[in-house]
Amino acid sequence: MTTTSAALATFPLHDGGGTPLVLLHGFPLDHRMWAAAARELPAGVRAIGVDLPGQGHSELSGMAPRLEDVADAVHATLRDQGEGNAVVVGLSLGGYVALALAERHPGFVVGLGLVDTKSTADTDEARAKRLRVAAAVEETQTIDPVLGMPAALLGATSAARRRHLFPDLETWIRAQSPVGVAWAQRAMAARPDRTDVLRAFDGPVAVVVGAEDQITPLADAEHMVHAANDGALTVVPAVGHMSAVEDPATVAAALSLLHRRVAEQTHRPRWPW
Ligand code: MLT
Repeated sequence: MTTTSAALATFPLHDGGGTPLVLLHGFPLDHRMWAAAARELPAGVRAIGVDLPGQGHSELSGMAPRLEDVADAVHATLRDQGEGNAVVVGLSLGGYVALALAERHPGFVVGLGLVDTKSTADTDEARAKRLRVAAAVEETQTIDPVLGMPAALLGATSAARRRHLFPDLETWIRAQSPVGVAWAQRAMAARPDRTDVLRAFDGPVAVVVGAEDQITPLADAEHMVHAANDGALTVVPAVGHMSAVEDPATVAAALSLLHRRVAEQTHRPRWPW
Protein backbone atom coordinates (compact mmCIF):
# COMPACT_ATOMS: atom_id res chain seq x y z
CA MET A 1 0.00 0.00 0.00
CA THR A 2 1.20 3.53 -0.75
CA THR A 3 -0.15 6.73 0.86
CA THR A 4 1.16 10.26 1.10
CA SER A 5 -0.46 13.07 3.13
CA ALA A 6 -4.20 13.42 2.39
CA ALA A 7 -3.68 11.03 -0.50
CA LEU A 8 -5.70 7.95 -1.29
CA ALA A 9 -4.37 4.46 -0.65
CA THR A 10 -3.14 2.76 -3.80
CA PHE A 11 -2.20 -0.85 -4.37
CA PRO A 12 -0.04 -2.40 -7.10
CA LEU A 13 -2.33 -5.14 -8.42
CA HIS A 14 -0.31 -6.26 -11.46
CA ASP A 15 3.29 -5.60 -12.48
CA GLY A 16 4.27 -4.05 -15.78
CA GLY A 17 5.49 -0.86 -17.38
CA GLY A 18 4.07 2.10 -19.25
CA THR A 19 0.62 3.59 -18.92
CA PRO A 20 -1.18 1.90 -16.01
CA LEU A 21 -4.69 0.61 -15.77
CA VAL A 22 -6.13 2.40 -12.74
CA LEU A 23 -8.87 0.26 -11.22
CA LEU A 24 -11.63 2.01 -9.25
CA HIS A 25 -13.93 -0.15 -7.15
CA GLY A 26 -17.69 -0.32 -6.66
CA PHE A 27 -19.80 0.38 -3.57
CA PRO A 28 -19.62 -0.59 -0.71
CA LEU A 29 -16.26 -2.19 -1.42
CA ASP A 30 -12.59 -1.41 -1.90
CA HIS A 31 -9.67 -2.27 -4.22
CA ARG A 32 -9.85 -5.97 -3.28
CA MET A 33 -12.76 -6.51 -5.64
CA TRP A 34 -10.32 -5.98 -8.55
CA ALA A 35 -7.60 -8.40 -7.40
CA ALA A 36 -8.84 -11.48 -9.29
CA ALA A 37 -9.31 -9.61 -12.58
CA ALA A 38 -5.89 -7.95 -12.22
CA ARG A 39 -4.27 -11.37 -11.83
CA GLU A 40 -5.70 -12.34 -15.22
CA LEU A 41 -4.07 -9.43 -17.06
CA PRO A 42 -1.33 -10.28 -19.55
CA ALA A 43 2.32 -9.88 -18.58
CA GLY A 44 3.48 -6.29 -18.82
CA VAL A 45 0.12 -4.57 -18.21
CA ARG A 46 0.50 -2.59 -15.01
CA ALA A 47 -2.57 -2.21 -12.79
CA ILE A 48 -3.03 0.03 -9.75
CA GLY A 49 -6.00 -0.31 -7.40
CA VAL A 50 -7.21 2.78 -5.54
CA ASP A 51 -9.36 2.89 -2.41
CA LEU A 52 -11.81 5.75 -2.90
CA PRO A 53 -12.23 8.29 -0.05
CA GLY A 54 -13.73 6.83 3.11
CA GLN A 55 -13.53 3.29 1.70
CA GLY A 56 -10.94 0.61 2.43
CA HIS A 57 -7.70 2.22 3.62
CA SER A 58 -8.45 5.76 2.37
CA GLU A 59 -9.43 8.53 4.77
CA LEU A 60 -12.23 10.99 4.09
CA SER A 61 -10.10 13.88 5.39
CA GLY A 62 -13.14 16.17 5.62
CA MET A 63 -13.96 15.82 1.93
CA ALA A 64 -17.45 16.93 0.87
CA PRO A 65 -19.60 14.16 -0.67
CA ARG A 66 -18.88 15.15 -4.27
CA LEU A 67 -17.54 12.82 -6.93
CA GLU A 68 -15.77 15.81 -8.50
CA ASP A 69 -13.60 16.03 -5.38
CA VAL A 70 -13.07 12.27 -5.49
CA ALA A 71 -11.86 12.56 -9.08
CA ASP A 72 -9.47 15.36 -8.09
CA ALA A 73 -8.15 13.22 -5.21
CA VAL A 74 -7.53 10.23 -7.49
CA HIS A 75 -5.76 12.48 -9.99
CA ALA A 76 -3.61 14.20 -7.33
CA THR A 77 -2.68 10.88 -5.73
CA LEU A 78 -1.52 9.34 -9.00
CA ARG A 79 0.19 12.51 -10.21
CA ASP A 80 2.12 12.66 -6.91
CA GLN A 81 3.22 9.08 -7.57
CA GLY A 82 4.64 10.20 -10.94
CA GLU A 83 1.86 8.98 -13.23
CA GLY A 84 1.42 11.30 -16.21
CA ASN A 85 -1.62 9.53 -17.61
CA ALA A 86 -3.73 6.42 -17.13
CA VAL A 87 -6.32 4.13 -18.59
CA VAL A 88 -9.02 4.65 -15.97
CA VAL A 89 -11.36 1.74 -15.30
CA GLY A 90 -14.26 1.86 -12.87
CA LEU A 91 -16.93 -0.59 -11.83
CA SER A 92 -20.25 1.05 -10.92
CA LEU A 93 -19.31 3.76 -8.35
CA GLY A 94 -15.81 3.53 -9.83
CA GLY A 95 -17.28 4.23 -13.27
CA TYR A 96 -19.03 7.35 -11.99
CA VAL A 97 -15.65 8.53 -10.69
CA ALA A 98 -13.89 7.58 -13.95
CA LEU A 99 -16.30 9.81 -15.89
CA ALA A 100 -15.76 12.68 -13.43
CA LEU A 101 -11.99 12.22 -13.92
CA ALA A 102 -12.36 12.35 -17.71
CA GLU A 103 -14.35 15.56 -17.32
CA ARG A 104 -11.98 17.30 -14.93
CA HIS A 105 -8.62 15.93 -16.06
CA PRO A 106 -9.07 15.04 -19.73
CA GLY A 107 -5.34 15.07 -20.49
CA PHE A 108 -4.72 12.49 -17.79
CA VAL A 109 -7.29 9.94 -18.97
CA VAL A 110 -6.14 8.26 -22.19
CA GLY A 111 -8.65 5.41 -22.13
CA LEU A 112 -11.83 4.63 -20.23
CA GLY A 113 -13.16 1.30 -18.98
CA LEU A 114 -16.77 1.53 -17.82
CA VAL A 115 -17.78 -1.71 -16.13
CA ASP A 116 -21.32 -2.36 -14.83
CA THR A 117 -21.96 1.35 -14.52
CA LYS A 118 -23.89 4.13 -16.20
CA SER A 119 -23.31 7.68 -17.38
CA THR A 120 -26.74 8.97 -16.39
CA ALA A 121 -27.76 10.55 -13.07
CA ASP A 122 -30.03 8.89 -10.52
CA THR A 123 -33.77 9.08 -10.91
CA ASP A 124 -35.51 11.06 -8.17
CA GLU A 125 -36.62 7.76 -6.64
CA ALA A 126 -33.09 6.29 -6.63
CA ARG A 127 -31.67 9.50 -5.16
CA ALA A 128 -34.26 9.52 -2.39
CA LYS A 129 -33.48 5.87 -1.60
CA ARG A 130 -29.74 6.61 -1.33
CA LEU A 131 -30.41 9.48 1.05
CA ARG A 132 -32.64 7.23 3.17
CA VAL A 133 -29.87 4.61 3.33
CA ALA A 134 -27.30 7.29 4.25
CA ALA A 135 -29.56 8.58 7.02
CA ALA A 136 -30.18 5.06 8.37
CA VAL A 137 -26.45 4.31 8.42
CA GLU A 138 -25.74 7.58 10.23
CA GLU A 139 -28.55 7.05 12.70
CA THR A 140 -27.58 3.48 13.59
CA GLN A 141 -23.82 4.06 13.23
CA THR A 142 -23.72 0.65 11.56
CA ILE A 143 -23.56 -0.54 8.01
CA ASP A 144 -26.49 -2.92 8.59
CA PRO A 145 -28.58 -1.23 5.86
CA VAL A 146 -26.10 -2.41 3.18
CA LEU A 147 -25.17 -5.84 4.53
CA GLY A 148 -27.73 -7.54 2.29
CA MET A 149 -26.18 -6.14 -0.87
CA PRO A 150 -24.28 -9.24 -2.11
CA ALA A 151 -27.56 -10.81 -3.22
CA ALA A 152 -28.25 -7.80 -5.46
CA LEU A 153 -24.67 -7.41 -6.67
CA LEU A 154 -24.17 -10.98 -7.89
CA GLY A 155 -26.08 -12.39 -10.84
CA ALA A 156 -28.56 -15.26 -10.71
CA THR A 157 -26.00 -17.72 -12.10
CA SER A 158 -23.46 -16.79 -9.43
CA ALA A 159 -26.14 -17.11 -6.75
CA ALA A 160 -26.74 -20.65 -7.95
CA ARG A 161 -23.27 -21.82 -8.97
CA ARG A 162 -20.64 -19.50 -7.45
CA ARG A 163 -21.70 -19.51 -3.81
CA HIS A 164 -18.06 -19.10 -2.73
CA LEU A 165 -18.23 -15.45 -3.87
CA PHE A 166 -20.72 -14.52 -1.13
CA PRO A 167 -18.28 -14.77 1.80
CA ASP A 168 -15.70 -12.68 -0.08
CA LEU A 169 -18.19 -9.91 -0.79
CA GLU A 170 -19.52 -10.02 2.76
CA THR A 171 -15.98 -9.72 4.15
CA TRP A 172 -15.23 -6.72 1.94
CA ILE A 173 -18.51 -5.00 2.81
CA ARG A 174 -18.14 -5.63 6.57
CA ALA A 175 -14.74 -3.90 6.45
CA GLN A 176 -16.33 -0.58 5.41
CA SER A 177 -17.16 2.15 7.91
CA PRO A 178 -20.60 3.69 8.50
CA VAL A 179 -19.17 7.16 7.85
CA GLY A 180 -17.68 6.08 4.51
CA VAL A 181 -20.82 4.22 3.43
CA ALA A 182 -23.13 7.16 4.18
CA TRP A 183 -20.72 9.59 2.53
CA ALA A 184 -20.51 7.49 -0.66
CA GLN A 185 -24.32 7.28 -0.89
CA ARG A 186 -24.58 11.07 -0.64
CA ALA A 187 -21.80 11.57 -3.21
CA MET A 188 -23.45 9.20 -5.71
CA ALA A 189 -26.84 10.84 -5.17
CA ALA A 190 -25.40 14.23 -6.10
CA ARG A 191 -23.78 13.19 -9.38
CA PRO A 192 -25.02 14.71 -12.65
CA ASP A 193 -25.56 13.02 -16.00
CA ARG A 194 -22.11 12.67 -17.61
CA THR A 195 -23.11 11.25 -20.99
CA ASP A 196 -21.75 14.44 -22.59
CA VAL A 197 -18.34 13.66 -21.09
CA LEU A 198 -18.35 10.43 -23.07
CA ARG A 199 -19.42 12.27 -26.22
CA ALA A 200 -16.48 14.64 -25.80
CA PHE A 201 -13.90 11.98 -24.89
CA ASP A 202 -11.70 11.09 -27.87
CA GLY A 203 -9.81 8.07 -26.50
CA PRO A 204 -10.81 4.41 -26.64
CA VAL A 205 -13.67 3.36 -24.38
CA ALA A 206 -14.48 -0.19 -23.23
CA VAL A 207 -17.98 -0.73 -21.90
CA VAL A 208 -18.41 -4.01 -20.03
CA VAL A 209 -21.64 -5.33 -18.53
CA GLY A 210 -22.79 -8.55 -16.95
CA ALA A 211 -25.69 -10.06 -18.89
CA GLU A 212 -27.50 -10.56 -15.57
CA ASP A 213 -26.70 -7.11 -14.14
CA GLN A 214 -29.95 -5.82 -12.61
CA ILE A 215 -28.46 -2.62 -11.13
CA THR A 216 -26.91 -1.12 -14.28
CA PRO A 217 -28.35 -3.37 -16.99
CA LEU A 218 -27.46 -3.75 -20.67
CA ALA A 219 -29.55 -0.70 -21.68
CA ASP A 220 -27.23 1.54 -19.61
CA ALA A 221 -24.19 -0.02 -21.28
CA GLU A 222 -25.68 0.44 -24.75
CA HIS A 223 -26.43 4.08 -23.97
CA MET A 224 -22.76 4.63 -23.09
CA VAL A 225 -21.30 2.76 -26.04
CA HIS A 226 -23.51 4.73 -28.44
CA ALA A 227 -22.38 8.00 -26.85
CA ALA A 228 -18.67 7.12 -27.06
CA ASN A 229 -16.67 8.11 -30.15
CA ASP A 230 -14.56 4.96 -30.03
CA GLY A 231 -16.52 2.52 -27.91
CA ALA A 232 -16.48 -1.28 -27.71
CA LEU A 233 -19.10 -3.29 -25.81
CA THR A 234 -18.47 -6.58 -24.01
CA VAL A 235 -21.48 -8.39 -22.56
CA VAL A 236 -20.23 -10.98 -20.08
CA PRO A 237 -22.53 -14.01 -20.04
CA ALA A 238 -23.92 -15.52 -16.83
CA VAL A 239 -22.73 -12.77 -14.46
CA GLY A 240 -24.36 -9.85 -12.68
CA HIS A 241 -23.26 -6.42 -11.44
CA MET A 242 -19.91 -7.72 -10.14
CA SER A 243 -18.65 -8.97 -13.51
CA ALA A 244 -15.01 -8.39 -12.53
CA VAL A 245 -15.49 -10.63 -9.48
CA GLU A 246 -17.79 -13.19 -11.10
CA ASP A 247 -15.82 -13.70 -14.34
CA PRO A 248 -12.45 -12.02 -13.84
CA ALA A 249 -10.83 -13.60 -16.92
CA THR A 250 -13.39 -12.21 -19.38
CA VAL A 251 -13.28 -8.75 -17.83
CA ALA A 252 -9.45 -8.81 -17.83
CA ALA A 253 -9.49 -9.74 -21.54
CA ALA A 254 -11.73 -6.74 -22.32
CA LEU A 255 -9.45 -4.43 -20.30
CA SER A 256 -6.35 -5.83 -21.93
CA LEU A 257 -7.85 -5.09 -25.34
CA LEU A 258 -8.64 -1.55 -24.17
CA HIS A 259 -5.04 -1.13 -23.04
CA ARG A 260 -3.85 -2.30 -26.47
CA ARG A 261 -6.21 0.08 -28.28
CA VAL A 262 -4.82 2.95 -26.20
CA ALA A 263 -1.23 1.94 -27.04
CA GLU A 264 -2.07 1.72 -30.75
CA GLN A 265 -3.74 5.12 -30.70
CA THR A 266 -0.78 6.66 -28.88
CA HIS A 267 1.66 5.34 -31.48
CA ARG A 268 -0.49 6.03 -34.54
CA PRO A 269 0.90 8.92 -36.60
CA ARG A 270 -1.56 11.83 -36.62
CA TRP A 271 -2.17 14.25 -39.46
CA PRO A 272 -0.30 16.42 -40.33
CA TRP A 273 2.69 14.10 -40.24
C1 MLT B 1 -21.83 -0.05 -6.99
O1 MLT B 1 -21.71 -1.24 -7.27
O2 MLT B 1 -20.87 0.72 -6.93
C2 MLT B 1 -23.21 0.47 -6.69
O3 MLT B 1 -24.18 -0.42 -7.13
C3 MLT B 1 -23.36 1.81 -7.30
C4 MLT B 1 -24.71 2.40 -7.14
O4 MLT B 1 -25.34 2.21 -6.09
O5 MLT B 1 -25.15 3.10 -8.07
